[in-house]
Amino acid sequence: MSGGEKQMDVRTALRQGLAQLREAKVPSFTLAAELLLLHALGRDRTWLYAHAEEQVSCVDADRFFALIARRARGEPTQHLTGQQEFWGLQLEVTPDVLIPRPETEHVIEVALDRLAVGQRRAGRKQALTGEGLQIADIGTGSGCIAIALAKELPSATIYATDISSAALSVAQRNAQHHSVSQRIHFIESNLLERVSIAGPQQAAHLLGKAAPHESASFHLIASNPPYIGRREAATLMREVRDHEPEIALYGGEEGYELYADLIAQAAAHLKPAGILVLELGHSSLPAVQPLLDAPAWTNVGVTNDLAGIPRVLAAERL
Ligand SMILES: C[S@@+](CC[C@H](N)C(=O)[O-])C[C@H]1O[C@@H](n2cnc3c(N)ncnc32)[C@H](O)[C@@H]1O
Repeated sequence: MSGGEKQMDVRTALRQGLAQLREAKVPSFTLAAELLLLHALGRDRTWLYAHAEEQVSCVDADRFFALIARRARGEPTQHLTGQQEFWGLQLEVTPDVLIPRPETEHVIEVALDRLAVGQRRAGRKQALTGEGLQIADIGTGSGCIAIALAKELPSATIYATDISSAALSVAQRNAQHHSVSQRIHFIESNLLERVSIAGPQQAAHLLGKAAPHESASFHLIASNPPYIGRREAATLMREVRDHEPEIALYGGEEGYELYADLIAQAAAHLKPAGILVLELGHSSLPAVQPLLDAPAWTNVGVTNDLAGIPRVLAAERL
């Protein structure tokens, strides 16, 4: 037992674990130690404080302190527990996918708000179910956006793309776990290149040559693309830089390079009045917003995250 003593109770194990993480300067060390202890013991959060006096077996304590040592060396807590909550859903995460972030929940909020506005404008009063809606999530990663939207819109059909087949495997497992895999088509594709109105199996025509609306199939396109600049890499936390997939982090040297293609492809794939919702990097807005200053787009809006950073950019296809 690397905790120092032969037998210990839950409270002592937790105290020793969080002291080790604090010493290693791990952010949110108390939460990390709690989550790792619960993972080692196979328990949930409500159990912890009611059982602080319970003895921890040597096997469980060894498992816990091994996890603490890995966390102290920089591995993200979510890679050790294999889980992250998003939009109230427990999702599997692995080193092949970006760990879903709380700010991405604003993408879901904005998408649902805009769909509800569209529904009211069309004079429909019933609750939004997604009936007849075709939605795309570009760069799905763990599948968090696609799955949250599928849960909120139980009649919608969703196409979720990613350039990483390893990420798509994780997203597919998450969709199965949350019983929405029947309504989400997962497609390995550069942005929307391999997605067509006829269905995901057929290769699409080259989007650059498509006339506006020729391939228009979506009522909503949402995306949280890679948006960190490679030149910022040295400033990232080691948990992010050393452990999350580069393809999910970096959008180019500056970070915002993918947005131009993404917006052009969205313009070709959205129906009239279709909605585009994009997550932004902390300083992406000045480079990205002008891309929507074009005849194809109207109703451009920016939503700040809880830290006051412009985080979501949304617009409507004319
Ligand atoms: C920032 S992560 C977002 C993942 C997930 N949607 C989320 O919000 O947590 C970006 C995702 O886009 C994928 N990606 C990167 N370049 C891409 C491209 N050209 N086409 C499609 N997906 C891409 C990455 O593999 C990664 O899964």
